[in-house]
Amino acid sequence: MLNKHAGIIATGSYVPEKRLTNEYFEQIVDTNNEWIVSRTGIEERRVAAENEATSDIATKAALRALEKSGRTAEEIDLIIVATVTPDMAFPSTACIVQKNIGAVNAAAFDVEAACSGFIYGITIAESFVSKGAYKNVLVIGAETLSKIVDYTDRNTCILFGDGAGAAIISEVEEGYGILSSYIGANGSAGELLTQPAGGSRLPASEQTVRDRLHYIQMNGSEVFKFAIKIMGEAAEKALSMCGMKKEDIDFLVPHQANTRIIDSAVKRLKISPDKVYVNLNKYGNMSSASIAVALDEANEKNLLKDGDVVVLVGFGGGLTWGASVLRWKNSGGKQHV
Ligand code: UT7
Repeated sequence: MLNKHAGIIATGSYVPEKRLTNEYFEQIVDTNNEWIVSRTGIEERRVAAENEATSDIATKAALRALEKSGRTAEEIDLIIVATVTPDMAFPSTACIVQKNIGAVNAAAFDVEAACSGFIYGITIAESFVSKGAYKNVLVIGAETLSKIVDYTDRNTCILFGDGAGAAIISEVEEGYGILSSYIGANGSAGELLTQPAGGSRLPASEQTVRDRLHYIQMNGSEVFKFAIKIMGEAAEKALSMCGMKKEDIDFLVPHQANTRIIDSAVKRLKISPDKVYVNLNKYGNMSSASIAVALDEANEKNLLKDGDVVVLVGFGGGLTWGASVLRWKNSGGKQHV
């Protein structure tokens, strides 16, 4: 049986209302706006309300993508939620989204690949759709990182924000869609970025709470070095898998962690900065939601033209990384939200 061609037919996103500016962080930790902007590029980030969980914002992003896709919830065969901030250990956030949107015919599971999660999700979805196993797969990257950020740690608290982005992967015409996807991992460097407690290694206890072990811990400069190296490498690897070179890239949607990391990837890939989508000034690092939200915004702003070679590339905890090469096709049905 011939493989089908799988592609993104619709995108959607949602970010919570509440904003935290750099000035807010000047009040709570020893930092300043100048340091944050010059070292990271971040000006503000969104944070979920106290009663707002990852599935709530994932559901909003999913409904927006679904509406634009022209598919009904019943037509979704599989839901994949990429997140490191699930509502709870189980049931999966994907199952909660399935209930919320009424996708009664869908299988559902979560993927945990930190900031590379959306690319991992797309890679899995492409495989199911191209083999003909499923027709419509909903992939969501969603995070409420504010729930696990240590707001006493200036090294990390200024970096992260909350948000959700979604994409529907379905069959597309030949020559379009996901041309290649490359994912990788290096578990031996996993200690560089962790949330140490709350799992089976260190179950929640009064001591783990006292020791602040339920919050993100990161060796920022080591992650930075890894990111600089892997962004260009992963993008070039995915391009080579579909017989392309960096010169073929029309538009780049990188993981939004730090403008200095994005700038180094731009330099290595020799792409003009106006072909690179950057929104981390508004949202900070939303882990698995970053690429998904950026892709939806670029799509909504009509920055992606039919036939464009669009590269998504990211890296994150695990350590993990991934890149996808898409031949873009606007399928209409855009709506400005
Ligand atoms: O999505 C994957 C997740 N993580 C990342 O992508 C993060 C990757 N890493 C980074 O983006 C950067 O490493 C950071 C933005 C986290 C830090 O930037 P850096 O240029 O690597 O700074 P650094 O860690 O080498 O720290 C330089 C100095 C330190 O002071 P000393 O020890 O030199 O006196 C830090 O304590 O900057 C200090 N510093 C701050 N100063 C003011 C760290 N955070 C802050 C802060 N405000 N918020």
